[in-house]
Amino acid sequence: MAATRTQADEAREAVVEAALARLDLDAKARLLSGQDMWTLPALPEIGLASLVMSDGPIGVRGVRWTADDTSVALPSPTALAATWDPELARRAGVLLAQEARRKGVHVLLAPTVNLHRSPLGGRHFEAYSEDPYLTGLIGAGYVTGVQSGGIGTTVKHFVANDAETDRFTVNNIASERALRELYLAPFETIVENAHPWGIMTAYNTVNGTTMTEHRYLVNEILRGEWGFDGYNVSDWMAARSTVGALEGGLDVAMPGPDTVYGEALAAAVRDGKVEESVVDTAVRNVLRLAARVGALEGAEPAVTEPPAQVDGEALAREIARRSFVLVRNQGALPLRGTVALIGAAARDARVLGGGSATVFPARIVSPLEGLTAALPEGSLTYAVGADPNTELAVADKGFTLRAVCRDAEGRVIGTASAPNGQIQWMGSDLPDGVTHETLHTVELTGTYTPRETGPHTFGIKGLGAFTLTVAGTTYYDDVQGTDSDDPFISFFGAPEPRAQVELTAGEPVEVSLTHVVSIPEGAPIKAVGFTLAHQEPTRDPDELIAEAVEAARAADTAVVVVATTDRVESEGFDRTDLNLPGHQDDLVRAVAAANPNTVVVVNSGSPVELPWREDVAAVLLSWFPGQEGGAALADVLTGAEEPGGRLPTTWGSLADAPVTQVVPTDGELPYTEGVFIGYRAWEKEGRTPSYPFGHGLGYTEWTYQSLELDGTTARIRVQNTGDRPGREVVQVYLAPAEPDAERPARVLAGFAQVAAAPGETVEAVVEIPRRAFEIWDEKTNSWSFVKGSYEIQVSRSIVDRRLTGTINV
Ligand code: BGC
Repeated sequence: MAATRTQADEAREAVVEAALARLDLDAKARLLSGQDMWTLPALPEIGLASLVMSDGPIGVRGVRWTADDTSVALPSPTALAATWDPELARRAGVLLAQEARRKGVHVLLAPTVNLHRSPLGGRHFEAYSEDPYLTGLIGAGYVTGVQSGGIGTTVKHFVANDAETDRFTVNNIASERALRELYLAPFETIVENAHPWGIMTAYNTVNGTTMTEHRYLVNEILRGEWGFDGYNVSDWMAARSTVGALEGGLDVAMPGPDTVYGEALAAAVRDGKVEESVVDTAVRNVLRLAARVGALEGAEPAVTEPPAQVDGEALAREIARRSFVLVRNQGALPLRGTVALIGAAARDARVLGGGSATVFPARIVSPLEGLTAALPEGSLTYAVGADPNTELAVADKGFTLRAVCRDAEGRVIGTASAPNGQIQWMGSDLPDGVTHETLHTVELTGTYTPRETGPHTFGIKGLGAFTLTVAGTTYYDDVQGTDSDDPFISFFGAPEPRAQVELTAGEPVEVSLTHVVSIPEGAPIKAVGFTLAHQEPTRDPDELIAEAVEAARAADTAVVVVATTDRVESEGFDRTDLNLPGHQDDLVRAVAAANPNTVVVVNSGSPVELPWREDVAAVLLSWFPGQEGGAALADVLTGAEEPGGRLPTTWGSLADAPVTQVVPTDGELPYTEGVFIGYRAWEKEGRTPSYPFGHGLGYTEWTYQSLELDGTTARIRVQNTGDRPGREVVQVYLAPAEPDAERPARVLAGFAQVAAAPGETVEAVVEIPRRAFEIWDEKTNSWSFVKGSYEIQVSRSIVDRRLTGTINV
């Protein structure tokens, strides 16, 4: 339901109306169309500044896509959800608002609240959970935090953008019940509890209508039923038609300057194809956003005094350690004695997932750095063990590069720093003195100093003509093409290997990659984007494993960090399996055979298979832990802090996972499982996952003493019976007493965080929401409260039940 308007809202609304009244049709149509990749045009005649949007979920990139414009990088959204702590999500939001203000950004393109329908979803790491209730509460905390800092949010991607395959065209076929109970539910919770100032409509189609034109879901449900009063922006390049989009409730078409709005919209009104009053509605929504964020003169912003400054590094570290999920511990943790740290990702930490959620942190603490700082000198050794990077990655460590821009005559017209091998210049974001009209070639040039001797591979990501020269030899001078129709393929596609060069460790060589810029006529975005990619010599896998085994044998504990790569988890494509890439499974098995005290840290944003999990002493999931991941890991491994996470999503093997399909057939992806995804499906199928939803261990013990029910309020007393302070996530599941094949056996209906000193007893109070008792009735097209008897199950995970009670409603 819509929030009641405050006096300040009324006053802002009056300014919005007055501003709207002063705009002519052309100005209105222009305002609804991006002026470039990230901004809307300013309209000085009404005192409107240019509204700036930026990704995204774990940090604020700003309007430039380059590693020299740095941002605090928080842990992945899956990690944030694993904290099961909406208050921590709120604090993350406050930090992101601070980052946005620092970068001149008004609106964050986040949070992502699509669901973990299939573990193969490529953007799984960027969404929170398989459970709509947990997703909604984490998302609401996040939105509340960001907006308390005066910055808008755009909750995305509305709706059912749960996989990446054919994401621009896929028609997801879902029942109204599945939409209401699962996919729409987080959006509804967030609208109701956090009043987001924006929403992003997705690329995909739902039940035959593309989401940027979905009148029913946008105008009737989101705005009509739920009372959403923010602006609706298309996902980037998702708007396909002028009249269809406007009538479907789309306010802003991004990016610009060429969109279905602007001049095309003004013409559509003049031709009588659409009423100007519909344009006014969209403009009103944008002006309301501008008023809220302080970009419209005369309107008091929603937040006049920004919250107190937050220490980003400290918060990133706190969230990381609170998110780590200890799924198994046979006494190996906290660490004791000497440690052999093993794994490529222990040295080259993978802290975030790929795609539009990418930001560039000013520093990254790797597990190796974190543990080196935390452990006594001489107690840590390191071995690579196995390298999952069996593919090319952005040229980075050891490269010193700059970009040189030339015109058609070969004259240098500008230069720019290039902190790594990736060039991403969008719209007018070009080096000083360079315009799209004058720019002919960009040369990435500099030196590379190898850290390993052997054959190094160099590659190119991007479309068009390239020349690649290493150490004076030209290895490639040709044109790269693509079969993909994804317009972002040059961002998310795979690099092509183009040269293999024998190099010597420590001896620098000259490197140059020249690209002839050619932006197709009519391209919606003027962007220059390409990447110099690189891969170090790969060593014999058996030799690497043998070295690691030696190191493991010589230490009291072996800590193996295993990871996915950005060719495995990223926006733009789905996964095809849940395996750890490369020889990492062999590595873990060999190390575990050599040292019974083997701890495995799983550095991935979403589930991977852990076939050796029963053979190791401990397994800790660290997600993509953000820039302070290594420091947080050291906190948790040494026992200075407790790992606080619980699984927000079931982890199991692909073969057992009940819902996996992400590939459409003839353009359609039917959600045939209805309301049964995640634990709802695992339970229905009677299958046992590797680690159930809600599971996670700490370093102390808890006794669940009592459950008291007062109507729908559950009071649970728990005692910390261990010998150190701890934090517990008390989970409450609601199970209809009479099994009903159409309903999940139980659903998460509430949870609470408690902290207690050794011996202390504390009370968790959980209010079970009315919605937990409701189902969507497709006959009456309304929520139906299912009366009857329910079991309240107080648990440590969906299967680890500690107390039960009954309520009759
Ligand atoms: C993504 C959005 C993102 C936008 C802008 C799209 O490809 O799906 O999540 O906000 O790009 O980067």
